[in-house]
Amino acid sequence: MAQVALRDVNKFFGTTHVIRDVDLEINKGEFVVFVGPSGCGKSTLLRLIAGLEKLTSGEIEIADRAIMDLPPSKRGIAMVFQSYALYPHMTVFHNMAFSLNLQGFSKSEIAERVTAAAKTLQMEHLLDRRPAALSGGQRQRVAIGRAIVRNPDVFLFDEPLSNLDAALRHETRVEIAKLHKQLDATTIYVTHDQVEAMTLADKIVVLKDGVVMQVGSPMELFNNPANEFVAGFLGSPKMNFFEGEMTSVTVDNTAADFRGADFSAGNVSLVSKEKAKGEKVKLGIRPQHLRLDPKGEITGSITLIERLGTETVVELMTPSNTQFRFATPEQLDLELGDNAQFSFDQTKAHLF
Ligand SMILES: Nc1ncnc2c1ncn2[C@@H]1O[C@H](COP(=O)(O)OP(=O)(O)OP(=O)(O)O)[C@@H](O)[C@H]1O
Ligand SMILES: [Mg+2]
Repeated sequence: MAQVALRDVNKFFGTTHVIRDVDLEINKGEFVVFVGPSGCGKSTLLRLIAGLEKLTSGEIEIADRAIMDLPPSKRGIAMVFQSYALYPHMTVFHNMAFSLNLQGFSKSEIAERVTAAAKTLQMEHLLDRRPAALSGGQRQRVAIGRAIVRNPDVFLFDEPLSNLDAALRHETRVEIAKLHKQLDATTIYVTHDQVEAMTLADKIVVLKDGVVMQVGSPMELFNNPANEFVAGFLGSPKMNFFEGEMTSVTVDNTAADFRGADFSAGNVSLVSKEKAKGEKVKLGIRPQHLRLDPKGEITGSITLIERLGTETVVELMTPSNTQFRFATPEQLDLELGDNAQFSFDQTKAHLF
């Protein structure tokens, strides 16, 4: 049984339709990430589950109960926000104990739960401090601790790492992943950062304009994107797209030949199955799937080289002015203005 189920969920703000016909099942213990560009409806969808916004239509179940009429406190959820929202005048202990006090737990039960959560988060030594005496990462850990003590059916996170600097963001991301393994709690996590989505999720939900574009494991979405949007959104650097025309297609519509302004390619997997021979298509090739090859069909002149140490990213321009990128772990002996030629792995390319 699904731990969280959304059926035909819609949300309007006034006349603006921000969540459109969302159907989703989240299993017990699963780590699900809602990802998509700013304004696509990630927070709204999370807030509908939390009960901070009211549905316009549809149903939501948590642990087999319809929860639409329940207030947030009765839904079996605990939420962690981007702004930690700690009480500045209370110690870490009392911040974490606050909701348990409200719920009328005994002093000993509260102390037990708070100590256990502090131990899990390795911050027992911070329990007597006030938030002002903590770093950003430590404050976010308190906010996570405050969620843990409630022992919820579902954890909800809305961009919890956005206020942290890059190093701390990485560190806290790893901690959240470990914590999830340890607690095995169902988690829904909102981010616009595709790296967070790829590294944390068991299941990614890609949203665009309030519509679910694809649901699947990180590798399913990376290897078999259902559309150009998902293909372009996941992966860094972004997938290259070359415009052209479909010159022939197999009877079962699974593969097709492509002719672009600069080069042709045969037998590429066809994602947009509704397309017919002669129609305009885009050939998508990830920067990592190009390889330097003096006999390769793709030619480009180098416009930028980024040497990242672990990876070199080269930006190029084809003769017909299509920009594309090549990424390689090697430290290339190439310079701005050089011409380079590439072949690519046909089996990893897609036509949209
Ligand atoms: N209270 C509100 N009243 C009216 N419109 C709203 C309200 N809250 C959100 N919206 C609109 O709904 C859409 C979705 O907003 P939402 O906050 O869910 O996006 P998001 O994906 O979380 O974006 P971000 O990554 O910037 O946080 C946006 O167009 C936003 O302007
Ligand atoms: Mg948001």
